[in-house]
Amino acid sequence: MIKLTNLTKAYGNFTAVKSIDLEVKTGEVFGFLGPNGAGKTTTIKMMAGLLQPTGGSVAIGGFDVQKEPLKAKAITGFIPDRPYLYEKLTAGEFMRFIAELYTMPSADGRINELLSLFGLSDWASELVENFSHGMKQRLVMASALLHRPKVLVVDEPMVGLDPRGARLVKDLFKDLASQGVTIFMSTHTLEIVEAMCTRVAIINRGEIIAGGSVEELGRLARMENSHLEPIFLKLTGGDETI
Ligand SMILES: Nc1ncnc2c1ncn2[C@@H]1O[C@H](COP(=O)(O)OP(=O)(O)OP(=O)(O)O)[C@@H](O)[C@H]1O
Ligand SMILES: [Mg+2]
Repeated sequence: MIKLTNLTKAYGNFTAVKSIDLEVKTGEVFGFLGPNGAGKTTTIKMMAGLLQPTGGSVAIGGFDVQKEPLKAKAITGFIPDRPYLYEKLTAGEFMRFIAELYTMPSADGRINELLSLFGLSDWASELVENFSHGMKQRLVMASALLHRPKVLVVDEPMVGLDPRGARLVKDLFKDLASQGVTIFMSTHTLEIVEAMCTRVAIINRGEIIAGGSVEELGRLARMENSHLEPIFLKLTGGDETI
């Protein structure tokens, strides 16, 4: 459902993402891990069609994001690490605006359903500029789900969410995956990965250094019955930091 082939991004002389290959199957919850500056957001922005690769390609549901951007974007929901919103719109207006971008006819029912799911029903008529960070994050998530995307690409979903919000997102993602939605998410929260992800890849300095299930990563790091944290620290090169 998601296929990255030799995907590369150079900023001038610096190559942030180095020829990565990844495949994510339908209904998987895929965790994308790596230290700060490893290249996660750069990769995700190329998947969402926001950043032009300098080499290789991304395909979503068989559509090349570069060559058929509208078809790819029509089935993709993108949730960025920082919520960008129009401060002078109300939550309801923002949702209607996004529904119009996706040319959804009569989206009011769906909008109400999502605002309610994310605990924002009482705030529908409030200006976004008065929202807290976590409320903005919830609104961005609600808007990304409006068009019932088949693929969700998420950059650090849990940042800024309170425990109830994090729980909601965890349950929601599992539920969506069981309905056949493919989820690709970067996160630093290893408990979330252990609880949710079917497979994981670790990126370090722009290269995929390991991939597989948590158990497979444990074997790769020669750590049996281990949790993801020591495996991650070992594979990303810091035995001394354990
Ligand atoms: N527009 C840009 N111009 C130059 N370098 C950039 C640009 N955007 C990102 N980089 C560099 O690319 C590298 C990867 O950045 P990226 O944001 O993809 O990391 P990340 O894995 O998402 O990190 P974090 O965990 O901190 O979010 C970093 O070294 C960063 O400084
Ligand atoms: Mg990032």
